[in-house]
Amino acid sequence: MSSTSAWPYPRWIAHRGAGALAPENTLEAFRLGARHGWRMFECDAKLSADGVLFLLHDSTLERTTNGHGPAGRHGMGALAQLDAGSWHSRAYAGAAIPTLEALVRFCLANGLLLNVEIKPNPGQAWQTGQAVGELLARLWPDDRPAPLLSSFHPSALDGARSTAPALPRGLLVDDFATGSTDGDAALAQAAALECRALILNYRLWLEHPALVAQAHGAALRCLGYTVNDPADARRLIGLGVDGLITDRIELFVPDYPGDCR
Ligand code: G3P
Ligand code: MG
Repeated sequence: MSSTSAWPYPRWIAHRGAGALAPENTLEAFRLGARHGWRMFECDAKLSADGVLFLLHDSTLERTTNGHGPAGRHGMGALAQLDAGSWHSRAYAGAAIPTLEALVRFCLANGLLLNVEIKPNPGQAWQTGQAVGELLARLWPDDRPAPLLSSFHPSALDGARSTAPALPRGLLVDDFATGSTDGDAALAQAAALECRALILNYRLWLEHPALVAQAHGAALRCLGYTVNDPADARRLIGLGVDGLITDRIELFVPDYPGDCR
């Protein structure tokens, strides 16, 4: 890895498919995002009780489905029966929780790029990373820009490295550790995991602008989430941040391929 390593991703990434315009992490959301012209998507992946990777942000089912309790206690058959759309709007009533494999196949069929956030159930970080790596190494062809794997959990990225060492990893950080006012610990952690990217809550880039050059100097691309305000986006781009993850798919207009690096 070097600072000049190819980075085949666009600047803009649609968060959870289509932000708030469709029920997050459903195939309907990714379809809507693609219809708006988006070409790279973030999603949240975790394991079902029977070992199937599926898309859901929360550890529990209540907020975004008509199910109850910890999501990881259910098998995929039961999860697939849930209504993951009605909470959003009537137009999406009956939308299903998809497997990660279904989203991968959708992306491959449509020439779309993927950022899979490994969002493990409690206590399952390493094994979830391992499973995500295994699935993507098996399904994603070598001649397409590889999925970017990311996680707040270092052990999830380590698990992904164990099964898919060639897939690029990005360390997610929401806040710097108490006592650390800069990103040194995050940079060290990203280096230890051989990451290609540091993906921060965008406010951290704004609060620590010198960190962009530090990360670039360490051969890390700089991404920020969740950037929903145009003024923030302009400031981040001005700082040299390489990628912006946003909910506002109707507001920002990705300029492909002009915004690719
Ligand atoms: O992957 C970026 C972002 O999705 C991380 O936060 O809570 O929206 O998954 P969250
Ligand atoms: Mg996420």
